[in-house]
Amino acid sequence: MSPAEPRSYDPHATVAGLDGELLRLEAQAQLSWPAELAALRRAGLRDGVTVLDAGCGSGAITARLAQALPGARILALDSDPELLAHARRRLAEHGERVRVLEGTVQDPPPAARGADFALLRLVLQHQADPVDAVRGLAATMAAGGVLAAIDVDGGLWGLAEPFFPELMAIHARAWQSQQQRGGDRFIGRRLTRILSRAGLLEPTLELAAAHSDQLGTERFAALLDPQELQPRVADGTLTLAEYGRLHAAYRRFMQDPEALVMTVSFVAAGRVPG
Ligand SMILES: C[S@@+](CC[C@H](N)C(=O)[O-])C[C@H]1O[C@@H](n2cnc3c(N)ncnc32)[C@H](O)[C@@H]1O
Repeated sequence: MSPAEPRSYDPHATVAGLDGELLRLEAQAQLSWPAELAALRRAGLRDGVTVLDAGCGSGAITARLAQALPGARILALDSDPELLAHARRRLAEHGERVRVLEGTVQDPPPAARGADFALLRLVLQHQADPVDAVRGLAATMAAGGVLAAIDVDGGLWGLAEPFFPELMAIHARAWQSQQQRGGDRFIGRRLTRILSRAGLLEPTLELAAAHSDQLGTERFAALLDPQELQPRVADGTLTLAEYGRLHAAYRRFMQDPEALVMTVSFVAAGRVPG
């Protein structure tokens, strides 16, 4: 894909720019990570091995992996040099144990090879060919290793109360536009199939939930804030009036003391043959 084409993932695309996206990734990680980590441990994540965070972005999850697995060697790989610069600063405190590497998940550089456990979190939804991405990554892992993919699905993103049915229609349109930019916001339901088709064995699937009654509604603010959809106004997918309605609903929701929200991550994993 040439740089001029619209991309499924563009960390600069909101008015809040890269800083806004870094905050959003951090808020997202903070919310979902405890339940996702528990699911990853059940899928075979353990301490003392080599773990690859493939498509590590800002390092929000890599830092949490390093904390949860004090005896593991951690590799963090991404293709975006700016996000990697941030990840390097963020992960420097771990010294040699955590290495940050530039490259693609389809064809990782030699230093990113041989992992016993690899994680693709919120990465496959942005791939034009997710099976090819998983196959490429799995081919570089240790035989018998585990490859896990965590992603979302617009059809089962979670729930919110009070419920605004008109917002669902607006979101559905924005998610469809991601499809046109080479991504898939409905990938969660296909994760096990993708792992199987890429040659991984015994694929498993768990849903990991984050609920505002446990975490507080405020912690979900960065995820519910429609600012992520601003580029969809610029490209004509949403009108300014629709965006305004989304924003008003978001403000009403955040001010409602009875509001509740739950989000769902899909956690799939499979074993590398050998
Ligand atoms: C939504 S971010 C998720 C970052 C991180 N995994 C997390 O959960 O916070 C997606 C990341 O995948 C990276 N990415 C997308 N396609 C990639 C590819 N083919 N190879 C390497 N990195 C890729 C992007 O640069 C971005 O950092």
